[in-house]
Amino acid sequence: MGTGSIRRGGGALEDIVSIAPVGEPRQKITVASLREKKLQHQPITCLTAYDYASARLVDEASIDIVLVGDSLAMTMLGYPDTLSVTVDEMLHHTKAVRRGVKHAMLVADMPYGSYHVGADDALRNAARFVKEAGTEVVKIEGGEKRADLIRRVLDAEIPVAGHIGLTPQSVNVMGGYKVQGKSLAEIEQLMRDAVALDRAGVAFLVLEGIPREVASMITAEVATPTIGIGAGPDCDGQVLVFHDILNLTFTPPAKFVRRYGDAAALITDAAHAFREDVIAHQYPADRESYHLSKETQQALETVLERKRGMRR
Ligand code: KIV
Repeated sequence: MGTGSIRRGGGALEDIVSIAPVGEPRQKITVASLREKKLQHQPITCLTAYDYASARLVDEASIDIVLVGDSLAMTMLGYPDTLSVTVDEMLHHTKAVRRGVKHAMLVADMPYGSYHVGADDALRNAARFVKEAGTEVVKIEGGEKRADLIRRVLDAEIPVAGHIGLTPQSVNVMGGYKVQGKSLAEIEQLMRDAVALDRAGVAFLVLEGIPREVASMITAEVATPTIGIGAGPDCDGQVLVFHDILNLTFTPPAKFVRRYGDAAALITDAAHAFREDVIAHQYPADRESYHLSKETQQALETVLERKRGMRR
């Protein structure tokens, strides 16, 4: 894509500052443009997406980051938590999302087990996300203790996003999905985590399920853009899960979720209406049917008439 736009633009290589084709109104979101947004105090927007249609709609709504979250384990695959989703399952969804995203930054979660066994294994898995699914940034959960691993992945030219606070892949260690960073010791650890990932050079830092005051302190402390979910309004950006904002989760929403639409009601109503129309012979109507041409219809009539005559 980059090479194509350079050729089309015809400019000298040193003049090319963006891989977006010249004249395109919306710029491609990059690691550098996220940093710029933080500096300019422009809020960063991020939504999850797990398939082509949702990714395309989210991208066309000018959302900055499309995240193929491992939350797809629950939202798309019906698992009880994120732990069992595999690299292959994540890749399957990320490839579909890739085809729907043009301008947003495409980020994919490294699932549980894909970076816990060893650095070489983690690198191999991260490279699969880039080579097989066109992922621009991989997200890895965990703070200070992941800093060395994150540096290794960055050394392999793969941008990494961090994720600290309530990290769903640690659900069994945390003893449930609990708000983190409530005691002074936990706040201190969260600050160390944030600073370690900031120094390692992550593209952005997801802060999940922590008090507003702590998220605010971290955001002021680090140069990395922070993206909050259940972390209050003082982060550099906000992320929500696609299924949460559209009432597609079948569970009561968490405190931080705001519903922006009711896709469950829309889909349920449409399914009921379709069923009723079919049962009442109201669907399909004649205008929704294909027809033979007049000539073919006449020829068919002639053939059928001849057959009926032979039977008499
Ligand atoms: O998996 C996911 O959807 C996430 C977001 C909630 C940040 O990691």
